[in-house]
Amino acid sequence: MPRPDPHSYFDSDQPRTTHLDLDLAVDFDRRRVAGQVMLVLDRPSSGPLDLDSKGLVIASVRTDLGRTISYEPAPEEPILGSRLRLMLPEGTERVVIAYETGPDAIGLQWLEPPQTAGGRHPFMFTQFQPIHARTMIPCQDSPLVRVTYHAAVTIPESLTAVMSAGPKDGGASSETGMRTMLFEMPQAIPTYLIALAVGDLTSRDLSPRARVWAEPATVEAAAWEFAGVEQMILAAERMFGPYEWDRYDMLVLPPSFPYGGMENPRLTFLTPTLLAGDRSLVDVVCHELAHSWTGNLVTNATMDHFWLNEGFTVWAERRILEALHGPEAAAVSWAIGRVALDESVARFGADSPYTVLRTHLEGVDPDDVYSSVPYEKGSLFVGLLERTVGRARFDDFIRAYIRRFHFTSVTTEQLMAFVDQQLPGVAAKVGADEWLHEPGVPANAPAFRSASLEEITALAAGWPAGARPSATQIAGWSPAELLVYLQHLPRELDRAACGWLDERLHLTGRGNYEILVEWLTIALGSDFEPVFGRARDVLTKVGRMKYLRPLYGALGRHARTRALAREIFAAAAPTYHTLSRRVVESVMEKYDG
Ligand code: BES
Ligand code: ZN
Repeated sequence: MPRPDPHSYFDSDQPRTTHLDLDLAVDFDRRRVAGQVMLVLDRPSSGPLDLDSKGLVIASVRTDLGRTISYEPAPEEPILGSRLRLMLPEGTERVVIAYETGPDAIGLQWLEPPQTAGGRHPFMFTQFQPIHARTMIPCQDSPLVRVTYHAAVTIPESLTAVMSAGPKDGGASSETGMRTMLFEMPQAIPTYLIALAVGDLTSRDLSPRARVWAEPATVEAAAWEFAGVEQMILAAERMFGPYEWDRYDMLVLPPSFPYGGMENPRLTFLTPTLLAGDRSLVDVVCHELAHSWTGNLVTNATMDHFWLNEGFTVWAERRILEALHGPEAAAVSWAIGRVALDESVARFGADSPYTVLRTHLEGVDPDDVYSSVPYEKGSLFVGLLERTVGRARFDDFIRAYIRRFHFTSVTTEQLMAFVDQQLPGVAAKVGADEWLHEPGVPANAPAFRSASLEEITALAAGWPAGARPSATQIAGWSPAELLVYLQHLPRELDRAACGWLDERLHLTGRGNYEILVEWLTIALGSDFEPVFGRARDVLTKVGRMKYLRPLYGALGRHARTRALAREIFAAAAPTYHTLSRRVVESVMEKYDG
């Protein structure tokens, strides 16, 4: 199989890259990254080497000894980009490519000072998963290929660069006003885990192996919010084995970051919307941390096996949560996830191929079909295996799986062969084929119940008949329980009902974005004017796609809110990440009227 990954030109008959040496300058004025990369190959080679590239402007390709290498860039394909075919002369072990990034590299976002917390310095960050490393680096951009890397990054002197790597001593001011920072990543990772951010950054230590990076204006809040991270790492190590990445640092990005978190090794990227002020959203940190085992050690072979990354990680996240906060808290998290899953299945349609776990995405842009399915259907399948064999046996299985496949990339078929070997008969017993290959959610999906969940969902279901939570009930809810309550309320309420909710539950002023956005989704869908100002603030500032989708969706229900949506989007679109902009456009295309 010469091209095993439908989202890459990587050819498995050709040599593989084992190491990248990057020497890059970050040019904020031109919004370009320019410099060179040296690719170290696994063997002396000759003949064709196909690389992924997207929008890159190639200046030259040579061997490390200075011999020119002829190359042929193919026309740009909309999803894959351009295949860069090099013709290696006999005995080539290292290839040096000089290049710069294109003007709309989707893997990079450039922010003007007003889009940052401090407001005085520009900011840039990368987001390479699933297939965007090729917009900054010509490389074999498939998770089937793992590389170590070194980087020298030249930036304006007043800023700081951080990467998904360790720092390396040295570096200096190269020219006036600029400085070069050095990084070294000794563990082999897929290219989607290479990450860079540059801005006015400072850090606080949280434990001997963990610190948080953020702008000076947010770093104290971030240090407080994530102070418990070492406890999470210890809990995860007890379940999944030693943490293999040396440090676990976190970076809090500006609010336009399109995700909640991204598991860049040694440096998780996080949205500032997690800074709720009460540590109620640290489950996202549990999730990204859990990827240190499921995802970064054992990686999906291609995006057709993405559920292996996310399904196992959501399951692991909830196990960490249970270890730290008990089974009730975990059950609430499962309940919240189930609502998200049902919403995604409803959006695609219950017989859509995008509700299958093991997908076939050739010709499909993985960003276009991103949803809760791999996360929640995937984690339910893992949870079902766990329930079926019992926790003790399943925990042994997980540790064996991680040990067996660490630092490799696996397919669904490889996982299931390992399941058959370690847990014979279990796949058939749970109906694994239906789970993996059929759309929708199988009837034997585990349900996670608790007394308090029953009470909350019953109260919400009783809303139309006049049921209301008492002040005592409300006071007893955790933020996650309040979220469950809101999730189960009708999507459209009258003015009096909206007013009642906001008054009793103090929703519009919430710092917890999960609660705030769920509330705004109901209120905007109800054409409830008192929240319009708050909604405008959120939508102008926050680029997290998980929030933009429901909010713009809710704004589509009424003529007045559709006009509001168009007005807000016109103003905010230039500040959104390309991915966020695309999500909003796809939502607004479906507005009728
Ligand atoms: N790896 C994902 C984010 C991602 C997936 C980026 C696919 C690009 C392509 C990350 O671990 C993630 O799942 N983030 C979630 C966190 C949540 C499930 C706790 C998010 O951003 O909402
Ligand atoms: Zn994840």
